[in-house]
Amino acid sequence: MTPDGDSVGRFFYGRHYLERNNAVELDPVELRLRRGQYETARMDGFFGAIRDSMPDYWGRRVIERNTGHTQLEEFDYLMYGPDDRAGALGFGLNVQPPSKEHRFNKTMDLERLQAAADTIISDKPNTEDSATRQAEELMLVGTSMGGARPKAVVEHEQNLWIAKFSRYDDRWNHPRVEHGLLRLAQKCGISVAENRITNIGGRDILLVRRFDRERTEKGYQRHRMVSALTMLRSDDSPTSRRDWSYILFADELRRVSRMPEADLRELFVRMCFNAAVSNLDDHPRNHAILAKGRDWKLSPAFDLTPTPMIAMERRDLAMACGNRGRYANQKNLLSQHERFLLNEKDATAILNNIVETVRTSWRQVMQESGASKIDNEMIESAFLYRGFFY
Ligand SMILES: Nc1ncnc2c1ncn2[C@@H]1O[C@H](COP(=O)(O)OP(=O)(O)OP(=O)(O)O)[C@@H](O)[C@H]1O
Ligand SMILES: [Mg+2]
Repeated sequence: MTPDGDSVGRFFYGRHYLERNNAVELDPVELRLRRGQYETARMDGFFGAIRDSMPDYWGRRVIERNTGHTQLEEFDYLMYGPDDRAGALGFGLNVQPPSKEHRFNKTMDLERLQAAADTIISDKPNTEDSATRQAEELMLVGTSMGGARPKAVVEHEQNLWIAKFSRYDDRWNHPRVEHGLLRLAQKCGISVAENRITNIGGRDILLVRRFDRERTEKGYQRHRMVSALTMLRSDDSPTSRRDWSYILFADELRRVSRMPEADLRELFVRMCFNAAVSNLDDHPRNHAILAKGRDWKLSPAFDLTPTPMIAMERRDLAMACGNRGRYANQKNLLSQHERFLLNEKDATAILNNIVETVRTSWRQVMQESGASKIDNEMIESAFLYRGFFY
C-alpha cells in the first residue's frame, strides 16, 4: 500500500530462474527478463501480464455465483480462477508451481454447460437442483478465459477449444455469424484461429481452438500470450482508452516481433477489415501476441463480430487507426501506412482488396456458414457503411 492507500504490486524474477538458460520473460514490454524489482501502482498493483490471465466479465460472474460473494478482491479473482487461464502463467501461494489441471470439460458436457450459461445469464438464484448446481460447477472449470460472452473451455479431439455459447437474448445467431466473419477474414488473407460450429440440442455453439495450448506426450504445453492492452501499458479505464491505438500497437509489435514486416502488414489488414465489417468491438484485449518458443509474434485473429448500426456517416473502431483517430474511414486507415512498414501503393492495394472481397462475398460466406436470411438482414448494415468511403 502507498500512503494514499493505493495498492502497489512488486515483481521480480527469482535468481535461480534467471540462471536457467531457458528462462523467458513474462511479457516483452513491462516485465523484461532482468535482475531487480519491478513496481506498479496501476490497476491495484497488477501488472498487465498478470491481468491478462485473470477472468473478465463472464469468468467473474461464474466465480461470484460459485462462491456466493459479489465483493471479491482482485486477488481473489486471480486465485479462484481455474488453472486453464489464457497464456502460460499459473498462480499459487507457494514457491512450488500449482499442479497442472488435468480435468477438462468434454464436448459431451456442452449441453449442460449451455444450460448453466443460460441460468447464469438470466440471473436465476442458485437452485438446490443438483443437476443445475453440478453444471454450474462444471462451468467453473474453464472460466479464466477473458471476455464478456458466455463461454467454457472443452477438450475435443485431443485439443482444447473455447466453446462460445449463444444467449437467449441474442438478436442474431452469434455463433454462426462469428464463424462466418472469421471465414470472411480468412478470405481477406487474415490468419484466424481454427474454428467450427457444433450443434447440441438444437443450439449452435462456436468452437475456437486455443492457440495458446498444444497437445504433447506430457499433456498440454502452454504458450505465452500477452494482450495488446498490456503491450500498450493500458487498461480499461475511460482515461486509458485514449492510448488504445493500432498505430502505437504497431510500434510495439515492430520492436518485439520475430517477423515485424509480416506482422505489421497482417495488423494493417485486420484493422482495415474491422473497419470494413464494423467490428467495432476490436478493443486491445481482442489482439494479442503469442510465443510458442522464445520468440513473439502476432497471434491468430479471434473474436470478430459485426456491429450493425444506424449511423451511416461515422463509425469508430475501439482503437485509433489514423490521423483522424478511431474513424473507420478509408482515408483515415491509409493515413499512417508507413507505421505499418507499407508504402502508399501497397497499403491502398490491400485496402481495395479487402473492400472488394467483403463486397462480393460477405453474403455468400455467411450463408455457407449457416447464417439465416434473417441473420443476414440483421447484420447487413455492418458491411461497408457509407462513411467508410468518404
Ligand atoms: N483461440 C484462442 N486461443 C487462446 N486464447 C483465446 C482464443 N480466443 C480467445 N482467447 C482469449 O480469450 C479471451 C476471450 O475470448 P473472446 O474475445 O473470443 O470472448 P468474448 O467474450 O467474445 O470477448 P469480448 O468481451 O471482447 O466480446 C480473449 O480476450 C483472449 O484472451
Ligand atoms: Mg473478446
